[in-house]
Amino acid sequence: MPLRLAFLLLFVALGCRPTAPVTSPVRARTPASDVATIDEHSHARPDDVVVRHFGLLLDVDFATRTLGGVITIAVQRHDLRELLRLDTSALDISKVEVGRSPAAFAIGTTRLADFEADWHPTTWSTTPLGDGLGAGLDVALGGDVDLVRITYRTTASASGLQWLGPEQTGDGKAPFLYSQSQAVHARSWFPCQDSPGIRTTYDAIVKTPVGVRALMSADPIPSTTGAQAFEMRLPVPAYLVAIAVGHLEFAAIGPRTGVWAEPSMLARATAEFADIERMLAVIEALYGPYRWGRYDVLVLPPAFPFGGMENPKLTFATPTIIAGDRSLVSLIAHELAHSWSGNLVTNATWADLWLNEGFTVYIERRIIEALFGRERADMDAVLGQQDLDEAFAELGDDDERLRLQLGGRNPDDALSDVQYEKGALLLLALEQAYGRERFDPFVLAWFEQHAFGSVTTKQFEAFAAKHLFDTAPLPGHTPIDLGVWLDRPALPKDTPVPHAAAFDRVDAVVAQFVAGKLVAKTLETKDWAPQQWLHFLRALPKGIGAAKLKALDGRFALTTSGNAEIRAQWLEVCVREGHRSTDASLDEFLRTIGRRKFVMPLYKALLAADRGDDARRIYARVRAGYHPITQASIDELLGPPAPPPTAAP
Ligand code: BES
Ligand code: ZN
Repeated sequence: MPLRLAFLLLFVALGCRPTAPVTSPVRARTPASDVATIDEHSHARPDDVVVRHFGLLLDVDFATRTLGGVITIAVQRHDLRELLRLDTSALDISKVEVGRSPAAFAIGTTRLADFEADWHPTTWSTTPLGDGLGAGLDVALGGDVDLVRITYRTTASASGLQWLGPEQTGDGKAPFLYSQSQAVHARSWFPCQDSPGIRTTYDAIVKTPVGVRALMSADPIPSTTGAQAFEMRLPVPAYLVAIAVGHLEFAAIGPRTGVWAEPSMLARATAEFADIERMLAVIEALYGPYRWGRYDVLVLPPAFPFGGMENPKLTFATPTIIAGDRSLVSLIAHELAHSWSGNLVTNATWADLWLNEGFTVYIERRIIEALFGRERADMDAVLGQQDLDEAFAELGDDDERLRLQLGGRNPDDALSDVQYEKGALLLLALEQAYGRERFDPFVLAWFEQHAFGSVTTKQFEAFAAKHLFDTAPLPGHTPIDLGVWLDRPALPKDTPVPHAAAFDRVDAVVAQFVAGKLVAKTLETKDWAPQQWLHFLRALPKGIGAAKLKALDGRFALTTSGNAEIRAQWLEVCVREGHRSTDASLDEFLRTIGRRKFVMPLYKALLAADRGDDARRIYARVRAGYHPITQASIDELLGPPAPPPTAAP
């Protein structure tokens, strides 16, 4: 290799540049991010040019199911020779302009959504990116430009938006729109540097038709134009930018918490989430103040593909957690915990997702323990362990590691219970080895020292080495080998094994039921928690047979359970055992609920029961009502959908 080239490569490898005006004449240099990590899922090069703030002007058009958008972006230029590199996906871009900020302009406080500057057209081009990642957008900047304005429209292929007709909402009165940006879908509704290692502040103006209102994961601010306006003054990554539009009303829970929902759902939702203020108090006592001002929950229509999404200030949640008895609020504890693990301290790349989700599951269980006692937290942990075992049975070795190697794969495809449950077990192992007295302050310091920053798994290793492994573990405990936890498949041999005494009682009942010593009529299930029912259903052995299931249903009406977790688990067992009288309920469930965690196992169960044709028939009928994320997963499972029949001439 020629010497010069070797030097150049060395420079690049070390993250240095051989020549470069590193200071922008426009703004003083601040580090683009505290990590010199390249995010393989983003076209952005924040060490060259980084987005610092953007203003979004959105026109919500339910007739065409598109957003008309104008985004105005303030950039910081570290290398004046470089282009602005953005991510987009399926956007129709009509105009790209550049401008220069006036003297009295402050990034973060000057609102950009309708900012007027002396705009000039500029040249731009797009480059296709890998697997579902859309296209890079390169914008030529030139001169002392520090503002960019892009006019665009979203398309029917926007993977981050779901448009619902009134019939798909709870009240059936108005259409509904919501976004789901994590992991790489923000780029399908606004051009952005769509990497979790890049944070920006933003403001927005949203125009909606009458009869619906817009919410964003930001503060509402007064607007003069009759449209709604928002601003987010704390820097967030693009995946935490969110919008919802629908017929929504608000009810308060506590002084800084509340619920948004369609009117018919509001009272039930408010009652279900009454514990939120107490949850906040528990986390704040452990990990420091809640930094985001308000915490509200938005209850979405049932098509929402996830259980919850931790959009800052405004968690988006599936209505399937409203069970009537507060039994599924661990999901709210989870999303609230993300206000620390994820939103305050963010995984730098999607390969580090366990830093978001593993920490969050660990904190979620701490909240449940503090609020409802050890027994309930233990039951959650055992159910989580069962999910993890199932994931291990399905995944290849590479995906069993906490530190993922995505190798260009779409991050959605690597999402599994490993990041959640193995991640939480690692933290539990650390907690047990060092004791809560040492471990709780350690986690607090992790959040404090990286607040509003992005973190890699490597940084976690260094932080643990310095602040936890500097002293010996408690007597009787061996040191934790982080390398094994992070980079090897399966679980290390001394992993803590969660145990719930409440489940031992369930196991005893299952054994007697299977042996025929007890029949459905004589089962002792009084005072069972919903978690015990879940465990019961999971513990029913293969081949238990339809007759026993029929008897169970006769006594406990599981088919019509108001607890969606129980109903989904029950329907799965029924499909497996050929208990066909629940088919109508299954059909209805798959038609109305789009939560991927529920519908995927049911389609899988149909396939496994040799009912692939039924699965495809149901899916063909209901697919259009599912979110693109759920559609993508089930398309992959069942094969591509048949083309719609062409109309006869
Ligand atoms: N942030 C996740 C959802 C997510 C992760 C979306 C990765 C896209 C990519 C959210 O906090 C979450 O974990 N939701 C869970 C609920 C939780 C209680 C395990 C869900 O939706 O099931
Ligand atoms: Zn989560």
